Amino acid sequence: MVRAYIVSTGMAVPDRVLTNHDLEKIVDTSDAWIRERTGMAERHVSDENTAASDLALPASRDALRAAGISPDDLDAILVATISGDYVFPATACVLQHKLGASHAMAFDLSAACTGYIYGLSVAQAYIESGRYKNILLVGVDMLTKVVDWTDRNTCVLFGDGAGATVIQPRERGGVLDTVLGSDGSAAELLYQPCGGTRVPISHEAIDRKKHFLYMNGREIYKYAVREMVQSCHEVLKRCGKTIEDVRLIIPHQANNRILEAVAQRLGVSMDRLFINIEKYANTSAATVPIALHEALQQGRLHEGDLALLVSFGGGLTWGASLVQF
Ligand code: UT7
Repeated sequence: MVRAYIVSTGMAVPDRVLTNHDLEKIVDTSDAWIRERTGMAERHVSDENTAASDLALPASRDALRAAGISPDDLDAILVATISGDYVFPATACVLQHKLGASHAMAFDLSAACTGYIYGLSVAQAYIESGRYKNILLVGVDMLTKVVDWTDRNTCVLFGDGAGATVIQPRERGGVLDTVLGSDGSAAELLYQPCGGTRVPISHEAIDRKKHFLYMNGREIYKYAVREMVQSCHEVLKRCGKTIEDVRLIIPHQANNRILEAVAQRLGVSMDRLFINIEKYANTSAATVPIALHEALQQGRLHEGDLALLVSFGGGLTWGASLVQF
């Protein structure tokens, strides 16, 4: 059977680093609170001239180079993002042009922090059906551009980043299975109220700060632990595997305490999870591909190893993929 294989990865973050101590000068917070409550120490923040496609581009070029293919070889470009260059058109189209990927179709996919896992399931379906052979899947977000920098509840949590992967058919390894879920009844626990057709942009909406990201962190927290654990159990069961078969869990990096709770409920020690939240904070759709990239770079995964990719985010959305390298 042909499976979707992640043949290469790449990543990019903006140069500018904002530490917890820098944040202490902006809002009423402390390095100790942020570290203890989230595990974050610093995050990368883009400047006013950098948009999502500008980060996606170097990450994609790195992944293409590592895969040994040119942009011309690409059949499809999928970009998971909720903070693209524009409301429309798709950032994937902007990226297609910048790369010069003249034969690729391109579209964006909106599943917030679970965007990469949702995208992986789409790439998986295209590859398994034989429709496409060279797919570029990118997770990119710049939520620092849509947070309220006077709101300590949200502005300390996010960073900007992009993770890119090239996905091709292989007969050994690859994505064994993916499970996905959603619950739109909780959509307003994490959302950007203004800018769509519900609340179009207006002076009044902006005066009421409706253009900023809103999050009810405490409520989201409960869902996150439950659904990430459930997704892991479900995908393992579908593949006839147990958590003991998994070399490394690559989770969404929203909060270290969430990851401790997930590890505890899965019955694994923390060293079985790849965690880089300290350096990048929550980069939304980019956390999983960035973590995967760093895990591979650090030699944490070898041929034949199973990795469990798992995420949770706005929508609400969640999902897990079991991937063999
Ligand atoms: O990636 C998408 C999915 N997102 C998530 O999974 C995020 C899930 N949620 C979380 O990670 C956590 O809920 C947060 C990190 C957002 C917040 O942590 P918490 O332990 O749930 O804190 P809390 O919201 O219950 O707030 C506790 C206290 C409050 O003060 P009072 O009301 O007890 O006096 C907050 O005002 O901490 C205060 N607080 C802060 N204090 C210092 C909130 N933010 C800050 C801050 N610095 N930055």
